[in-house]
Amino acid sequence: MKIAFFSSKIYDKIYFNRYNTYHELKYFENPLNAESVDLTNGYDGVCVFVNDQLNAEVITQLAARNIKIIALRCAGFNNVDLQAAQKQGIAVVRVPAYSPHAVAEHAVALIMTLNRKTHKAYNRVREGNFSLERLTGFDLYGKTVGVVGTGKIGEAFAFIMKGFGCKVLAYDIHPNPVLINAGIQFVELDELFAQSDVISLHCPLTPQTNRLINSESLEKMKPNAMLINTSRGGLIDTKAVINALKNGKLGYLGIDVYEQEADLFFNDFSESIIQDDMLMRLMSFPNVLITAHQGFFTEEALTQIAQVTLQNLSDFENNQLSKTTTLVH
Ligand code: NAI
Repeated sequence: MKIAFFSSKIYDKIYFNRYNTYHELKYFENPLNAESVDLTNGYDGVCVFVNDQLNAEVITQLAARNIKIIALRCAGFNNVDLQAAQKQGIAVVRVPAYSPHAVAEHAVALIMTLNRKTHKAYNRVREGNFSLERLTGFDLYGKTVGVVGTGKIGEAFAFIMKGFGCKVLAYDIHPNPVLINAGIQFVELDELFAQSDVISLHCPLTPQTNRLINSESLEKMKPNAMLINTSRGGLIDTKAVINALKNGKLGYLGIDVYEQEADLFFNDFSESIIQDDMLMRLMSFPNVLITAHQGFFTEEALTQIAQVTLQNLSDFENNQLSKTTTLVH
């Protein structure tokens, strides 16, 4: 099939070219949105990532250009209007689990860095500053960690934190039986907020979870709690979090995702004037750590993403789409 591949980076080309023996892939660096949709003329399908915008308008335009499949090379699909795709008869496939461990481990990296301040220690030592002043952390052992969303990533994360000797609390609208069997306690969300020293978000962005973390939920948290978000930026009301950081209620914030990341993440703006004042304010806090949506970014995950996406395209062509990877058929 002829596939227009959007938001492509060098690493996408390396991994997809390594495993592609069959499909014709044309790599575009542009994101897919209303402005770039003309690039899909003459293709059978599109391959997209987390910040491509597949709203009803774009999907109608894709249908008009005879696009038959939207292949997401990621797990989250909050950026695709599935109803519109269904209506237009466009199949939507994704990579449901490329490496839950990659994201879970990145969440742990954020926790460890924020806690033990290794990013600051690294710079200090390189400058010949061997002082320990203001590098004090806390033992994770014995602390309470709240996991919101206990799917594949939340499960992997819960087990890692259990291994640290933490008390793990969990909340999910569909509690995970593997975690229940492992003795992890499921509680109501408010209780999780009230008891946790560290809260890590692993649920998808949906109308129900949009701004799950807001001024009210922040008020319910322990003073000095640590909040980690490797899921989707929209789970957090950024303004409310900034206020909670300013008034000292929230102790630490580690995010791999940001509500307005589409305009910035995955690109180099190091010589530009960044216009996003909220992001710049977040960056100014000493107890905030931001990474640019790299939770998934491991060899294993990139391999899995390429292999499953290419398989999804072949399965579609052979009319053998798998239930586990198909969102709309
Ligand atoms: P999953 O589908 O296996 O698990 C999601 C869990 O969230 C499910 O157990 C579901 O019942 C639960 N959930 C749904 N609505 C909820 C609600 N209102 N409250 C509490 N729990 C709710 O998904 P997986 O693979 O664990 O991924 C989770 C999220 O991680 C994805 O939706 C995606 O947004 C994000 N992600 C981030 C990556 C990164 O690079 N930072 C990479 C991959 C995924």
